[in-house]
Amino acid sequence: MITGLDHIAIAVPNLEAAIQRFMTDFGLDYEGTQDVETAQTSTAFFPLPPTSIELVHPLNGAGPIATYLEKRGGGIHHLCFRTNDIDADVIRLKAKGYQFIGEKPTPGAHGARVIFIHPKSCDGVLVELSEPQGEH
Ligand code: CO
Repeated sequence: MITGLDHIAIAVPNLEAAIQRFMTDFGLDYEGTQDVETAQTSTAFFPLPPTSIELVHPLNGAGPIATYLEKRGGGIHHLCFRTNDIDADVIRLKAKGYQFIGEKPTPGAHGARVIFIHPKSCDGVLVELSEPQGEH
């Protein structure tokens, strides 16, 4: 079951400059960066309860975020819904015809299990589902 808006992710071409913007100019709390090898991203999180802003940047210059930035430049990249049972939600949404990127949830930032719904199933919006560590 979806229980909240976990985060909004913004793809950024310059991670350090974007961190400074959100931390210094906007005055948000900065939780730190984390590399997510499976997604080939460097992430930076700014908790803004009850949600967060996530900056995403290509890890080692490669991967899907690198392709996104090449094609479109920076921008809002995805919304992430928090769920308390990601496996049940994947089964339920697949049965309704939603297309997912990847077969099953993979490790995301903070030890969460995550999976993405293809934007063509959601009016052009990339939607991530995330089950926080220890949730289920
Ligand atoms: Co995300």
